[in-house]
Amino acid sequence: MKNTILVLNGPNLNLLGLREPGVYGTNTLDEIDEEIKEYAKKLGLRCETFQSNSEGELIGKIHEAYDLYSGIILNAGALTHYSYALRDAITSVRLPCIEVHLSNVHAREEFRRLSVIAPVCIGTISGFGKESYLLALQAISKLM
Ligand code: DQA
Repeated sequence: MKNTILVLNGPNLNLLGLREPGVYGTNTLDEIDEEIKEYAKKLGLRCETFQSNSEGELIGKIHEAYDLYSGIILNAGALTHYSYALRDAITSVRLPCIEVHLSNVHAREEFRRLSVIAPVCIGTISGFGKESYLLALQAISKLM
């Protein structure tokens, strides 16, 4: 549907609030999802959020997105760094996708510097905490 965005979160992001708060902040994913939805409304977008720890479920959701959404905002968690299957799912559905990270992946361990997803996304927003999602919404709203 036009103006409807799917916000996808991958492995371990269900533990936000508890998980390394110094890196990822103290907000829970539910709180962040709530803010995302409110901000989306202000931008005139509709938005659905989904989190899974399973690569297969995330891929399934991307496949379903083909007919239902006009864009995807994706924080793939650690899958970012090695999931060619997730990357192929994005190219398969040909929806505009923005890669998002709460932390600055370039300022951390070496393995986080590689994103196999980045080349098939419009762009990447990384390092702004929960604001990364809101910045991605702003960016995607300009493309609709
Ligand atoms: C993350 C960064 C990844 O390297 C990590 O595996 C995550 C979270 C982020 O939002 O900063 O799970 O995607």
